[in-house]
Amino acid sequence: MFTASSLSGDRPQQYAQLADQARALLHGEPDRIANAANLSALVHHALPRLNWVGFYFFDGTELVVGPFQGLPACVRIPLDRGVCGAAARTRQTQRVDDVHAFPGHIACDAASRSELVVPLVRRGELVGVFDLDSPDPARFDVIDQDGLETLARIYVESLP
Ligand code: SME
Repeated sequence: MFTASSLSGDRPQQYAQLADQARALLHGEPDRIANAANLSALVHHALPRLNWVGFYFFDGTELVVGPFQGLPACVRIPLDRGVCGAAARTRQTQRVDDVHAFPGHIACDAASRSELVVPLVRRGELVGVFDLDSPDPARFDVIDQDGLETLARIYVESLP
């Protein structure tokens, strides 16, 4: 039985603890759906001020929603649309302080004000993206970006 202990210390230390929890949670399990579901739940419960945390998987053409925590979301996102599409297309993390100012942003949950999307790339192949939304403007800073990129890496490394 996995128990997520509460996080302590400064924010980088909290992200280091969360990374340890993620490694323990995913340890020995290669199933991408199982690990995406558990990682979404872990992050959703560990971090404040989020209204959506989850995964989109690349099906060879577009992004298709995977496991998540939050309101029901858009099912398919073409790579030329939205913050998720931009992350997948450029393979660069997209950190958006104000989603209303992002051209082509897709409003799945009208409450979302800022967003962080980390691309998931395994051995040079696009797997999908790890997407977090917040109801607060500019919710994500570089510390969040670093911490969440580490969690995304732990996820990618769990894949066969
Ligand atoms: N806002 C995203 C769409 C996905 S939802 O946030 C869950 C985007 O613009 O790509």
